[in-house]
Amino acid sequence: MKRIGVLTSGGDCSGMNAAIRSVVRTALSKKLEVVGIRQGFIGLLDKHFESMDSRSVSGIIQRAGTILQSARCEEFKYDRGQEQAVENIREAGIDGLVVIGGNGSMAGATALHNRKIPVIGIPGSIDNDLFGTDTSVGADTALNTIVSLIDIIRDTASSHDRAFIIEVMGRDSGYLALVSAIASGAEAAIIPEVPYDIDAIAEHLFERYKAGKTNSIVIVAEGASSAYTIERKLKNKIGYETRISVLGHIQRGGVTTVFDRLLASKFGQNAVEALLEGKSGLMTALQNGQYIFVPLNDVISKKKKIHSNLLDLAADLSS
Ligand code: F6P
Repeated sequence: MKRIGVLTSGGDCSGMNAAIRSVVRTALSKKLEVVGIRQGFIGLLDKHFESMDSRSVSGIIQRAGTILQSARCEEFKYDRGQEQAVENIREAGIDGLVVIGGNGSMAGATALHNRKIPVIGIPGSIDNDLFGTDTSVGADTALNTIVSLIDIIRDTASSHDRAFIIEVMGRDSGYLALVSAIASGAEAAIIPEVPYDIDAIAEHLFERYKAGKTNSIVIVAEGASSAYTIERKLKNKIGYETRISVLGHIQRGGVTTVFDRLLASKFGQNAVEALLEGKSGLMTALQNGQYIFVPLNDVISKKKKIHSNLLDLAADLSS
């Protein structure tokens, strides 16, 4: 193996840059050449290739987003797009590829692996919904951003006896909602994995109101409902005035946390070493504190579950 490529795909997340940096610097230290591919799989189709050196990744370990840019590529889902990508990869002399991204990106990586291109995936997603790894690059930073915003909202809420319904990201996963609820001391979390009982939530908030608590926070995962729907259902039933806050793409930002910097750096190193060892069709992962690899086929075919410990903790602490 002489030359490897690296790309970021799907929704960006803080820590992607740290992962790119690690892939580039690890590869250079092992005398490999590195090609950066811009805009994910679109870059493979349109030959957006650029040679990367150590300086290409200077000063980015802390920065959110991705210097290689990202995209979701419809064309790549079909045979024609994949065949074109393989042709371009071979023409550019790229012997192996590191794909950084979420579930859609791992599906793309699997397609290339099936077409005999050596590929290793790195999980990068604020949603933390990739099967096989306890955590994905970007989830910790997103949580820190979300929790710091909820802390701010609670201050204004308690100044006005208000309940805030706060919507967070998580297309199919309640991880961000549940963990941010635990870490911010929210009164309820509504997530796609667990059916919710709006009357029980209303009663819980009303009890708090009657007990003289000055505010309440309900976190809604976008995959479960919307803050607008939940607010409509709670309004006039809970004593508090209600307000809505949809955090949106602010959640993608934030200076990369130390946890994500380390995770991304280790995943990047592991990915390059795996390619050098002739491995392919795997994703780097962290399970129970151990760095391992999981088959991409498992990642794309199995659904990650919310850990029951988190559900129990949220239930015990929300009273
Ligand atoms: O998959 C990551 C994610 O941030 C989801 O939580 C969210 O639903 C989606 O991306 C938003 O995507 P976009 O930036 O394309 O609107």
